[in-house]
Amino acid sequence: MTRQYLVAGNWKMNGSRAANAELLSGIAARVGSVDRVELLVCPPAVYLDSVRAALPVGVSLGAQNLSEQIKPGAFTGETHGAMLTELGCRYVLVGHSERRSLYGETNQLVADKFSTAQALGLIPILCIGETLEQREAGQTEAVLREQLAAVIARCGIASFGAAVVAYEPVWAIGTGKTATPAQAQTAHAFIRGLLAAQDATIAGSTRLLYGGSCKADNAAELFAGADIDGGLIGGAALKASDFMAIADAA
Ligand code: G3H
Repeated sequence: MTRQYLVAGNWKMNGSRAANAELLSGIAARVGSVDRVELLVCPPAVYLDSVRAALPVGVSLGAQNLSEQIKPGAFTGETHGAMLTELGCRYVLVGHSERRSLYGETNQLVADKFSTAQALGLIPILCIGETLEQREAGQTEAVLREQLAAVIARCGIASFGAAVVAYEPVWAIGTGKTATPAQAQTAHAFIRGLLAAQDATIAGSTRLLYGGSCKADNAAELFAGADIDGGLIGGAALKASDFMAIADAA
């Protein structure tokens, strides 16, 4: 099964009108030379509209979060999924480790967000991954299984036919410590195996991204893993030359 590479930039809580314009024009200047790879940018929600207006042709737009609420209403500070689709979003991150650790998002809430995203026409990028403590305690597989199982139980295995999974070892995010290619491939193969245990066809088509200090100088070796279908890029997505060099490596 051929899976198209996806290189996604998660800008996190970074950017300004000026910085976004510079970043997008840098991406636009290089996008024509990138083939085989789908590019995605996920700016902060307040910039989605202006980023869409300046989005280079061929680059997809995504949000970093959405409300689990299926209907709009009195939920101060939240963003409804239909608002994201109206602004041109194709994807939305759910369960990023910063949402889980800093904002108390549980596996159940993440599963609800995943379900709502799909119901409202968005492709969820489900982020899963273990902390350093969990890895050192030999719990990596148990954590991945539990995080994935919550979504499978809530949404069914067929839902992964229209979803992406990002493996992000928490200890590698923003730390400069990247998983080795072998560690990343082992985790990705395990995740694909969990999906395959439910449905081999779905498992073969689901794109699995690696995230965690992925940079221009390590992307090629990471993306060489048989079960690694691209990356979810944080810090290195904030500079066009770095982001596009990662895309070139896919
Ligand atoms: O969403 C992106 C990941 O958290 C990776 O971030 O590339 O800055 O380590 P990073």
